[in-house]
Amino acid sequence: MKPNHEKLIIEGGYPLFGEVPINGAKNAAVAVIPAALMTEGESIIENLPLIEDVFAMDDILLRLGAKIEYDNHSLKIDASNLQSYVAPYESVRKIRASYYLIGALLTRFGKAEVAMPGGCNFGARPIDQHIKGFRALGADVKIENGMIKAYAEELVGTKIYLDVVSVGATINLMLAAVKAKGTTIIENAAKEPHVVDVANFLNAMGAKIKGAGTDVIRIEGVKTLHPTRYAIIPDQIEAGTYMIAACATKGHIIVKNIIPKHLESLTAKLLEMGAEVNVFEDSIEVRCKERLRASSIKTMPYPGFPTDLQPQMTVLLSLCSGTSIVTEGVWENRYQYVDELKKMGANIKVEGRVAVVEGVESLQGAEVVAVDLRAGAALIVAGLAAKGKTVIYNTKNVDRGYENIDYKLKLLGAKISRV
Ligand code: EPZ
Repeated sequence: MKPNHEKLIIEGGYPLFGEVPINGAKNAAVAVIPAALMTEGESIIENLPLIEDVFAMDDILLRLGAKIEYDNHSLKIDASNLQSYVAPYESVRKIRASYYLIGALLTRFGKAEVAMPGGCNFGARPIDQHIKGFRALGADVKIENGMIKAYAEELVGTKIYLDVVSVGATINLMLAAVKAKGTTIIENAAKEPHVVDVANFLNAMGAKIKGAGTDVIRIEGVKTLHPTRYAIIPDQIEAGTYMIAACATKGHIIVKNIIPKHLESLTAKLLEMGAEVNVFEDSIEVRCKERLRASSIKTMPYPGFPTDLQPQMTVLLSLCSGTSIVTEGVWENRYQYVDELKKMGANIKVEGRVAVVEGVESLQGAEVVAVDLRAGAALIVAGLAAKGKTVIYNTKNVDRGYENIDYKLKLLGAKISRV
């Protein structure tokens, strides 16, 4: 059932206690789903998070002529009768990751027409590295009337050096290269766990990809791909959001069904700030009894501190003793939530990519707007920790990336309701 997105109301000040199971990774799911279009037949994707971005991707698949069928968190995708290689604006506007359709449809049909994607707005979000890579593989790519149009009689393997470390370009070029003639080498590739997950999915379909998870990925083109069954990795950002919320509320939780290695940059930081963190094989326990110490973070591509946890972490830092410095190393404008946080009493000054956070004793509830996905998650963390009532509008942004966040938080003891 799709959630109602009106607003979330939180009565703050209750510590989170208990265990929380983590769902599959959004940013792996939104790439694996279009990748399943690259071959005829039925693939089954397991451990899919039931979130709005996944539903938006499902809608695009249906419009292209694929058949889909859910069984709880498993999705059967039958791309045998895929009819179209065109994804117009009305179908892609909701989701940034629709750019993966270019790589996937190029491999399936040798042509793709996909509107410039929507998604969160953090300033310029160019896709020049994707386009450079498609061209290097032999595709003719042009942008016309807001559509990216790519055509290739034949894709031919080559060496591609990415000028910036880009998750999207790395994955998109893997999609385009799996059936290219010969060998493709992607240098300065992104190393995020979801890059590795997509490579594993493609290899399960018969691709020959080596080196995913390092900065050089080598792809030997294959003639055919076949459908497969595959389970998505756990979402490290969802897990990290709950860990931070536990610290902000001085709670004690265990995040379950995760890969702790993917969260090393966060666990190290929380330990440094004074939290108690115990790492187990597939879970992490976080306990926080007192106010934590200020610290500094700089977001960077994996294995650095993830930009997708920067807003949530800034909320925690705003409650610590002392002054913290946050440097956003990935996006040019990812502090739009700060004005909302200030309404709750946070003391933060933003100068370009740097935020100086003076810790305050407490935050107070307020009416705030979730300007984007992680901004919304950050405001939920703030609302849980704040004194009094917080109302968060535009929560459809949060539902894009978190399955049942209000339900899960309620089970941890939060006073939260969706109206
Ligand atoms: C992915 O976006 C994620 N989205 C983002 O998560 C995440 O913030 C980001 O990676 C960084 O980890 C999905 O996976 C769907 P990039 P993506 O290409 O792939 C520049 C969330 O909250 N760049 O790695 O679009 C770009 O401007 C979302 O879950 C170019 O200059 O990000 C940015 O500064 C938000 N040219 C940097 O690289 C390009 O062609 C990293 O972008 C591509 C990117």
